[in-house]
Amino acid sequence: MVSARGESDEQRSRRTLLLAGMGAGLGLAGASLLAVAAELKPRVKISFADKPAQQGDRLVYAQGAHQRQIIAAADVPTGGPLVLAWPMDPKNETIRNANPHNVILLVRAAADSWFTDAERKHTAARVAAYAATCTHLCCTVSDWVPRPQGGDPHGYLVCPCHRSHFDPWDGARVLSGPAPRPLPILPIELGPKGELVVRSGFLTTVGCQA
Ligand code: FES
Repeated sequence: MVSARGESDEQRSRRTLLLAGMGAGLGLAGASLLAVAAELKPRVKISFADKPAQQGDRLVYAQGAHQRQIIAAADVPTGGPLVLAWPMDPKNETIRNANPHNVILLVRAAADSWFTDAERKHTAARVAAYAATCTHLCCTVSDWVPRPQGGDPHGYLVCPCHRSHFDPWDGARVLSGPAPRPLPILPIELGPKGELVVRSGFLTTVGCQA
């Protein structure tokens, strides 16, 4: 029998099969495209250990004999040197050490008067906390100059890579070197056992210019 389009039954059935096959093929192709897209989609999965310091986090030693132990304000040596720390989620005790930008440095003044008024309100028991990531090229600020020539007794933070100097008693402002901006400050407070607790996230962006 010939259809209105002038096709025989055999031609019509072949066309139907062809269309069905194309449909199935497109369906499969669509499914595999979706699978590929799912594979290509960036997996933004931030774990507890990647996250920067969060409100309520405790601080633990990043290195040395007491590594991973909680730091109390009284543990930070008065007048320097600095102490390097990681934030730790107190609920599941995850140390947030999966991201190098999470390293924090701590300094303790001998007197509150060492700090400027602007900085003092972010400190706890004379301890100030900063991001240790240098704002120049992201090295870890880990050196301490106790008494630079000129006689200031308070000491300074120094980046070992290109010798940027930061003033920890004045918002970690840049004293010298190529760093373009201060180290971000992390507001802290005291916990019930005198331990250092993160009061809020960093006040400025952690990172470097590169
Ligand atoms: S990376 Fe710190 S001064 Fe260059």
